[in-house]
Amino acid sequence: MEMKRLGSTDAIVPEIGLGTWRYSGGVEPLRRGIELGAFLIDTAEGYNTEDIVGEAISGIPDRAFIATKVSGRHLSYDAVLRAAEDSLLRLGVDCIDLYQVHWPNPVYPISETMHAMEELADRGLVKFIGVSNFSIAELQEALALMRHHPIVSNQMLYNLKRREIEIELLPYCEEHGITVMAYTPLDDGSLAAGSRFLKGRGMKALERIASETGKTPAQVALNWCTASPNVIVIPKSNSTERTEENCEASGWRLSDAQIKILNDAFPL
Ligand SMILES: NC(=O)c1ccc[n+]([C@@H]2O[C@H](COP(=O)([O-])OP(=O)(O)OC[C@H]3O[C@@H](n4cnc5c(N)ncnc54)[C@H](OP(=O)(O)O)[C@@H]3O)[C@@H](O)[C@H]2O)c1
Repeated sequence: MEMKRLGSTDAIVPEIGLGTWRYSGGVEPLRRGIELGAFLIDTAEGYNTEDIVGEAISGIPDRAFIATKVSGRHLSYDAVLRAAEDSLLRLGVDCIDLYQVHWPNPVYPISETMHAMEELADRGLVKFIGVSNFSIAELQEALALMRHHPIVSNQMLYNLKRREIEIELLPYCEEHGITVMAYTPLDDGSLAAGSRFLKGRGMKALERIASETGKTPAQVALNWCTASPNVIVIPKSNSTERTEENCEASGWRLSDAQIKILNDAFPL
């Protein structure tokens, strides 16, 4: 499993983590993923999966890197602190490795939210602070408010079919030492083998590169995302077998020519 630096920190995270939105696979796929090096597990207070993540890492909390999120509905100062305490209890850990603002919400002053995030870090309840679904303008505003903790990551929609962040956000994050955590990297499974949605030019290119590399379409789709040095991915799977398949999307690289073929077949 290839590792990447988290933002501009000294922390190292795997380029493939485990998503848990609509996850119902029990502890096995998560434990197998951790065993294979995909030790970053992404959850959120809104997913109803913090309990199962906690169960999966019980006894091995130090071997996992837990990323959870405060809902965009809980962004007042007090609500952020309360949400974090509830997440810590559900996860059964003393500290959240990465605490992310799930989405920006103009109803709450962002200064309150970010100061609460820093307070959690000051109290040792949160190791790193991240955001999700933040535009450049929202990131700039949040960054300017940080007193002594950096924003290390921005979790964003990114896959072969949804390349919009390449235009501005991805370069901005790279320039500012912010890791992009790509969510829905398999386009909800439509970029995997057997998908009835994967048709036409994109499908042909993905299958061609998969057969050239001896990998599966899902592995090629994930490897395409992580080809950007600043991007890590968090595919979700309920199955141990597909989790293993997704973990094997790391440890090798598509060639520049293969990336170009995919870019042409899935234009921006
Ligand atoms: N921050 C946000 O706003 C936000 C939004 C959406 C998602 N997320 C995070 O990102 C994670 C991933 O995104 P996602 O769950 O939306 O979509 P995804 O990971 O792109 O796709 C998940 C779907 O693909 C299937 N799948 C996974 N691996 C496969 C494989 N190797 N072959 C065939 N099918 C495969 C899964 O089915 P099986 O489970 O049956 O394998 C599931 O139906 C989420 O779980 C969540 O942690 C964050």
